[in-house]
Amino acid sequence: MELNVLILPGDGIGTEVTREAVRVLNHVAARFSHTVNLTEGLLGGIAIHKTGGPFPAETEKLALEADATLMGAVGLPEFDNWPPEKRPERGLLGIRKCLGVYANLRPVRAYQPLIESSPLKNHLVEGTDMIIVRELTGGIYYGTPRGIAGTGDEERGTNTMTYTRAEIARVSRMAFELARARRKKVTSVDKSNVLETSQLWRRVITEVAAGYPDVELDHLLVDNCAMQLILNPKRFDVVVMENMFGDILSDEGAVLAGSIGMLPSASIGARKPNGAWVGLYEPVHGSAPDIAGQNKANPFGAIGSVAAMLEYSFGLMEEAAAVNRAVEAVLASGNVTADLKGKATTEQVGQAVCAAI
Ligand code: IPM
Ligand code: MG
Repeated sequence: MELNVLILPGDGIGTEVTREAVRVLNHVAARFSHTVNLTEGLLGGIAIHKTGGPFPAETEKLALEADATLMGAVGLPEFDNWPPEKRPERGLLGIRKCLGVYANLRPVRAYQPLIESSPLKNHLVEGTDMIIVRELTGGIYYGTPRGIAGTGDEERGTNTMTYTRAEIARVSRMAFELARARRKKVTSVDKSNVLETSQLWRRVITEVAAGYPDVELDHLLVDNCAMQLILNPKRFDVVVMENMFGDILSDEGAVLAGSIGMLPSASIGARKPNGAWVGLYEPVHGSAPDIAGQNKANPFGAIGSVAAMLEYSFGLMEEAAAVNRAVEAVLASGNVTADLKGKATTEQVGQAVCAAI
């Protein structure tokens, strides 16, 4: 099979973890006799430096042409005081929207060798295995009106959380389809005791659930969900929520996995005009400027994102499983980075995963 993949290393540790993810992609492809055609593009702070904007037209074109896009991370401290519409992060929001990848799948697993890396008690964390499905192209991240206007005491910041029935229904269906292949349980997270968007969300997902009688649906308020994730993480199978709730709760989920460096993600849902699926794959962590350039970032989130790409964009289940098994073998060997209390460099972890494949 030919795998045409766009690589967007981005900023900070994004370049380092992406290098290892690409090493693993090339290795697994060679091992299973596939051809990888890589192109590289600019996104985020590096794109601002080289082109003046965080999401150049050239990157958009490359992303629309590729079968799948693998992204590192975006964000640089020098842009901290820039307005949102000019910042590196806006490039990421731009590519998500342009590809139309409305469902962001963030699996959270407690790996046995990492149980001690979590600050939580072992018996609580052990056996955790959930997928957070974060709505990715709507909600308060994109809603208008938005902005800062006025002066003095009347200066006002505005953001808008808004969802249509269609936006809620499609991500709900994605959650139910995923649950069907797992433990058949969907938890929908909202704030329906306060927000109208959440009331519509709850009503629509309940209607969608009628089409999936084999899957159980329950609802949790987002504040309670934040607590249950820590108190009883094993109760969750597929957990679906709007964009910003998903951003926040997936970082909380990272505590269960032992390190935010562990979490991969797959952003899917859209099809191209020719019918092909579109996919954007990125680790959940950010650009971590504080440890950038030191060869000590954990590449497992990026490598896991390659496994997700093989599975969702190319349907290569055996290849994806080979990557995931190799990750588990390396975790068990203790050849891991400092965030997991190991001594390995980013590069050594990538090489060890290739060797284990
Ligand atoms: C994430 C990140 C991004 C988000 C930032 C970098 C814009 O935190 O993917 O979770 O908020 O979506
Ligand atoms: Mg986030």
